[in-house]
Amino acid sequence: MTKKLYIKTYGCQMNVYDTERMIDVMAPEGYTQTDAPDDADLIVLNTCHIREKAVEKVYSDIGRVRKIKIKQSKNDKEVILAIGGCVAQAEGGEIMRRAPVVDMVFGPQTYHNLPKMVNKSISLKAIGEKSRILDTSLAVDEKFNQLSKSDVKRKATAFLTIQEGCDKFCTFCVVPYTRGSEFSRSIESVMKDAHKLADAGVVEVTLLGQNVNAFHGQSSTGQEWGLPELMAEIAKIEGIERIRYTTSHPHDMTDQLIKAHGQIKECMPYLHLPVQAGSDKVLKAMNRTHDTASYKKIIADLRKIRPDLALSGDFIVGFPGETDQDFEETMNLVREVRYAQAYSFKYSPRPGTPAATMENQVDEAIKSQRLTRLQELLKQQQIEFNKSVIGKTLKILIENKGKTEDTAFGRSPYMQAVQVTLQGVSADDLQGTIVDVLIKDAGPFNIQGVLVAAA
Ligand code: SAH
Ligand code: SF4
Ligand code: F3S
Repeated sequence: MTKKLYIKTYGCQMNVYDTERMIDVMAPEGYTQTDAPDDADLIVLNTCHIREKAVEKVYSDIGRVRKIKIKQSKNDKEVILAIGGCVAQAEGGEIMRRAPVVDMVFGPQTYHNLPKMVNKSISLKAIGEKSRILDTSLAVDEKFNQLSKSDVKRKATAFLTIQEGCDKFCTFCVVPYTRGSEFSRSIESVMKDAHKLADAGVVEVTLLGQNVNAFHGQSSTGQEWGLPELMAEIAKIEGIERIRYTTSHPHDMTDQLIKAHGQIKECMPYLHLPVQAGSDKVLKAMNRTHDTASYKKIIADLRKIRPDLALSGDFIVGFPGETDQDFEETMNLVREVRYAQAYSFKYSPRPGTPAATMENQVDEAIKSQRLTRLQELLKQQQIEFNKSVIGKTLKILIENKGKTEDTAFGRSPYMQAVQVTLQGVSADDLQGTIVDVLIKDAGPFNIQGVLVAAA
């Protein structure tokens, strides 16, 4: 009998990737995915711990699932609620205490065991046993060995995790605690997965890692490889026409990697390179290991090689001790560097991180004011960047149908979301192909154009 699995994903692309793998590992157990939590036999919340708000959402969603479970138990249906991801890793014990409705808790490194955990939970329930399951070990090796076995669904673009965890310990960040220390998958296993994606028709791969540019490994001929060499190898695979990678740290932005943006034509002219702040004092307190000068040098070097590079970033405002002057330095950095798009956040104190107990915490109202100003500036730059491509013909990878019959959704080389008017061609026929699109209009969040020709 088929069973229904509902997974809600919070947080970053690593979690999106993990969710896809959970669906893969549950498929042989007879579980198919549903978008309706009310129909599900198994509900998984794949959680994020990065900011306080993300965690609050999880607890309120647990409350919602509790109601579903009560309703279903009246129909004699036992729904299993599993909490995975980074909140599970960071505060699994507390979830168990606060939410008795939760049947199991597992961290980001143990979800390959999900079938075992689910079956165990079902048998425990069958004998009326109330005990629950907690698995938050941080050993990564075994997970990837298990996961590589699953099949790939056909789609235009796919994530491929090559690196996990982080040893950087920025003073604001929970990732080193929730994902564990830095770990690179073996080149052999990454290449195997990359071939599998290409065989399934994937045209674009996004290489993922919390510190993806710290990736390193040994090639089959015994050479020490980093991300640029890995990208060059993936670029050779027939069918792979686009490569992206995220998220990078300025510390690991080597000359070789910068050069790769000019040498590997599959490497797309888009880079997400978080700087976090524009004040050297704040960067130091954040333990970022780069300063504004070294960051600007990287950007200048990249733009020498790829003048059209679209730059993205992350910013935190209101880090402890950030003065008005420090914040103005962030604004000035943004004005100088110019971003195609960016994410910005109010500093959120996270339990167990050094910054949470620093003195000089910034007032919430000041954080909000600063965030509003920064976001206005970033939005303006985003619109400017999007408008700069009006009148150009860009190569667009068609991912899906559009909102209307006559349109398709795709992405430009610069990661812009593009609405393409098809003029009679069917979106289904174009899915997974790269086409020429003349850009006619642009807004803050997407650009619009008309199909010129299949490239
Ligand atoms: N590994 C990536 C990003 C990981 S988290 C990197 O090093 O850049 C994604 C973003 O969340 C961070 O870049 C940062 O801007 C933001 N972030 C992390 N911890 C935060 C906190 N405590 N409060 C506010 N924003 C935070
Ligand atoms: Fe967090 Fe810093 Fe590691 Fe990024 S580099 S994951 S911000 S500790
Ligand atoms: Fe969140 Fe974990 Fe990603 S804390 S941002 S889901 S690594």
